[in-house]
Amino acid sequence: MHHQSTDLPTSGVLLGKGQAPGKVILFGEHAVVYGRPALAVPVTQVRAEAFVEPAAPGEGLLLVAQDLREEIRFEGAPLHHPLVLAARLTLAKIGLTEPPPWRVVVRSSIPIASGLGSGAAVSTAIARALADAAGQPLSLSALSAIVYEVEVLHHGTPSGIDNSVICYEQPVYFVRGQPPRTFSIGRPFMLAIAYTGIPSPTRDAVADVRRAWERETARFDALFDRIAAIVQQAQSAITGGIPGSLGLLMDENHALLREIGVSAPALDVLADAARRAGAGGAKLSGAGRGGNLIALVTAETQEAVAAALRAAGAVDVIATSVGEPQR
Ligand code: MEV
Repeated sequence: MHHQSTDLPTSGVLLGKGQAPGKVILFGEHAVVYGRPALAVPVTQVRAEAFVEPAAPGEGLLLVAQDLREEIRFEGAPLHHPLVLAARLTLAKIGLTEPPPWRVVVRSSIPIASGLGSGAAVSTAIARALADAAGQPLSLSALSAIVYEVEVLHHGTPSGIDNSVICYEQPVYFVRGQPPRTFSIGRPFMLAIAYTGIPSPTRDAVADVRRAWERETARFDALFDRIAAIVQQAQSAITGGIPGSLGLLMDENHALLREIGVSAPALDVLADAARRAGAGGAKLSGAGRGGNLIALVTAETQEAVAAALRAAGAVDVIATSVGEPQR
């Protein structure tokens, strides 16, 4: 069924709402699965949002994925459907044993499977909207745990960094199994985020790295340790207000991710194009193989870098400022 993308809710009665930003991993992807730290920040230019309105009589609980033109009746739906699972876990957490007669409409401006966390953001928005409609807001850790469970369905053995940064909406220094820590940004800096147009197969990339690590454990552990050292230096540079030094660290992290086997020709081409156009450095972000490249830019270089990225094949380029006060 088609819904106008601007007129929500369709009934005129808003029972609850929730939203969540996208994210990028700045440093440390893949190594973070093996206990090393990683840094990630929310990307607030793109967003998932969900609205709850009363359902039509007899509809029960209905989940409407507006962008996909998909409507799912909660009762009788496959339990492993990500939207259904997000709703089911949330209802259980807030103690609603009977699915309420609500229509939950979700939409998102985050490109799907691009590495910007669209799945986690959609789950977060749904959980927040349901909890809001029930008048029982979830704690950030409860919310993040729900979103993590849905991520397990998509990605197998995620580290938890994506759900953390998206739920907390803060820059996150993340170590698997520990509560996420936020960190301060001494001076705002700008990134160009370029989408290759190739969906990033997170589950496969993570599984391939695991097989390689099992074959050559010492070599991969050494690569992960070098990434961990980059993460520490990057965090000091960001907090200390010297983001200019991040460029070299991005280049080094990208080279290590190439060695790990998760880059792709399209990502390497974009990285070279960004650097030639004046970016301070560039790296793939997220699981790799496709997905996004991030490049360190300034107000002076951002236009030239974005143009060069597009000319080199990026299908979409978003400029984002990290550390600018929000709203
Ligand atoms: C995916 O966004 C980041 C990876 O490090 C996987 C994970 O942390 O679960 C590749």
